[in-house]
Amino acid sequence: MPRPELVPRRPWQGRRILLGVTGGIAAYKSIQLARDLTRLGAEVDVVLTAAAQKFVAPLSFEGVTGRPVLTDLFSVDGAAMHLRLGKDADAICVAPATADFVARAAEGRADDLLCTALLATHAPVVVCPAMNDRMFAHPQVQENVERLRQRPGYVIAGPGVGALAAGEEGGPGRMLEPQDITEYIGRALGAEDAYRERRVLVTAGPTREALDPVRYVGNRSSGRMGYAVAAAAWRRGASVTLVSGPSSLEPPVGVDLVRVQSADEMFAAVADAIGAADVSVFAAAVADFRPTTTESDKVKREAVGDEFAVLLAPNPDIAGETRDRRKAGSVTVGFALETTDLLENARKKLAKKDFDLLVANDVTQEGAGFDVETNRVTILDKQGEPESLPLMSKDAVAEEILDRVASRLSARR
Ligand code: C5P
Repeated sequence: MPRPELVPRRPWQGRRILLGVTGGIAAYKSIQLARDLTRLGAEVDVVLTAAAQKFVAPLSFEGVTGRPVLTDLFSVDGAAMHLRLGKDADAICVAPATADFVARAAEGRADDLLCTALLATHAPVVVCPAMNDRMFAHPQVQENVERLRQRPGYVIAGPGVGALAAGEEGGPGRMLEPQDITEYIGRALGAEDAYRERRVLVTAGPTREALDPVRYVGNRSSGRMGYAVAAAAWRRGASVTLVSGPSSLEPPVGVDLVRVQSADEMFAAVADAIGAADVSVFAAAVADFRPTTTESDKVKREAVGDEFAVLLAPNPDIAGETRDRRKAGSVTVGFALETTDLLENARKKLAKKDFDLLVANDVTQEGAGFDVETNRVTILDKQGEPESLPLMSKDAVAEEILDRVASRLSARR
């Protein structure tokens, strides 16, 4: 899949990120990370340790960030550099973080520019360990990682499992991919009080209602809108459960993904999770009907003749029928996708399913609806006037929705 276009947006835009690179082979991936963060609108200051410079050159980072790279604790213009870097940073990320770095940081050493800057900051710190899997599993390394994890403001991102350098393969040790690290940095920058310690439930994607073992009744939903809401809610600090029908999208980093096929399965997953949710967002395009019978064997052409009649029965209304299980004081958001009488139908759904907010989109408008990156929506609540938003990316729509949810959550706290 091609990498999505990175456009400046919150929470990265205009923020200062200190990217520390230590001496591991994964350092080459951090050039991509520095580039992605810069394209998202952040100002990225890169600090390379002496060992990192054996793997990557300062020039590579300067080329992608447009800013000088820092290497030395003791230089004429760097006399108080560690203090400035620590003070100015909105977030610090160390990627890759070697076993040696983790040990020095856990000890609180101040023997190089990066470790010293860590002692001079109040910013959140994301540490991305990367090393051979046997080294990562060593009790000494585990102890050091745990010490960092317990430190207020520190997050340990990864390591992942997968192919390691030198042809080794086994347990965790591999650095997370740059786009995943970006998400962790986004969360460090974007966590907000309204969403901290909150649980958010999101439904997304289509459902598939089986006709026989190979065929189904479904719809064109891609899941993009719901995935965007789930990713944005996690970035704002919430714990997120994403109940997703079949979708080809990459699961958002950090969310608890529950995969389902049919509306019945989605109903069961929602019924299970909704009682604990402070926010529920019903972005799934649930099939309204399902075949009354599912054949156990593939239906053959010859057996059907000229016509194949399928009898359909209504599916459960997931949002409506789980109303009684909602947590007291929670905020619920529904979607309505219409081709006629948009506002009238939207108002009816808002009332009938008892949503706090309803996001209406008119699929007849260009750039809105299914299987596109953008959306043009109107947001309604129980009291106010409908609010029509301009055409924007689904990521931006997700932020608009979560802004409105946040003000309701804060009011009910
Ligand atoms: O399909 P409809 O336009 O009625 O969907 C309105 C809202 O209800 C959406 O938020 C959708 O996710 C939800 N819904 C549901 N269960 C259904 C149908 C829709 O939860 N069976």
